[in-house]
Amino acid sequence: MAALLLSSLLLLLSSLLLLPSASLVAASCSSETFSKNRVYTTCNDLPHLSSSLHFTYDSTTGTLSLAFVSTPGSSSGWVAWAINPTATGMIGSQALIAFKQPSGSMGVKTYNVSGYGPIEESAISYKTSDLAAELGSDGKIQMFANVVVGKGVTTLNQVWQVGGSVTNGVPDQHDLQSDNKASMGKLDLVKGVSTGSSGAAPSNNKKNVHGILNAVSWGILIPLGAIIARYVKVFEVADPAWFYMHVSCQLVGYAIGVAGWATGLNLGKESKGITYTTHRSIGIAIFALATLQLFALFLRPNKDHKFRFFWNVYHHMVGYSVIVLGAINIFRGLTILQSEDKWRTAYIAVICVLVGIAIILEAITWMVVLKRRRGSKKTYSNGHNVQQPFGV
Ligand SMILES: *[C@@H]1O[C@H](CO)[C@@H](O)[C@H](O)[C@H]1NC(C)=O
Repeated sequence: MAALLLSSLLLLLSSLLLLPSASLVAASCSSETFSKNRVYTTCNDLPHLSSSLHFTYDSTTGTLSLAFVSTPGSSSGWVAWAINPTATGMIGSQALIAFKQPSGSMGVKTYNVSGYGPIEESAISYKTSDLAAELGSDGKIQMFANVVVGKGVTTLNQVWQVGGSVTNGVPDQHDLQSDNKASMGKLDLVKGVSTGSSGAAPSNNKKNVHGILNAVSWGILIPLGAIIARYVKVFEVADPAWFYMHVSCQLVGYAIGVAGWATGLNLGKESKGITYTTHRSIGIAIFALATLQLFALFLRPNKDHKFRFFWNVYHHMVGYSVIVLGAINIFRGLTILQSEDKWRTAYIAVICVLVGIAIILEAITWMVVLKRRRGSKKTYSNGHNVQQPFGV
């Protein structure tokens, strides 16, 4: 039994740990190629939204010739690059937005973005020419433009963005994830470098670590520990081994979970201005309830004590709450991460395996218990020593 549990745990752990590496492939702007012999002297991988900017600045004519490359939320979405002559954010930016026009072909329109509401095509404060866009088979949009930014300009405030949909020829609002809010910075036309905004979002790496720690702890170890307590203890040979297995599984789970919780608090501190209230509150509740369980271990009345029944009810209720809240929060976290579907699928698979193990063991347990009851009726009439699955 223990071997079965251990091997399934290892299987789950390895499947979960192997996944993140695939999603962390570094992009490099220098491998980007363009049609119509377009070439640019400089390219920058922008720090957010997997975008790149390719440009040539002719300081004598004051013309910035550029290509902006990014992946819209969907094939019918949009990508935008803008200069903000007066501020650093979106408001006031002079934007170029590329998307599939109502005519069916890709095109670029200009927008003077003056508010947060729906945007309207308009003239911008820079002269533009050669506006064009192409949708690649890889889902990326390449947007091309010549923008007269002025002679002898050294730095510009740039803003970029992507969106998932366009309605009646008007780009719809973009997501409000941390990456969407941090996608701005300085563009140095002389040195040819882009710098991110000071409010840069925490790296994906940190978020992945946070996700993995918490998924392994609250998502796998804690439920596994509950499974051990509920089912393994039915077997008399496993008494009191089940107790030590249960306690060590939960202690390891709790330790990893506290580490995961701490990374979460740290992410919250780093993402200034962004709070995922529900995810945060559930996380704090899980931590509090799990800590309560830890204390319950020390306050456990003796097996024969009259309060032991109430302690058991309380211990089970708090424990199951932690497991349910853990699962809910892992799904919320996956949504916040905008993680690829394979992560969600992997976690759903983990839940299915755990529930599957629980159902099989539940059946075995009842068979064992019923058999024992029948046996115990014959042998000892009082049968008070028989283990029950609910272990009161
Ligand atoms: C852009 O909008 C602002 C605010 O409405 C306005 O003051 C400015 O003149 C506009 N710029 C252009 C080029 O239309």
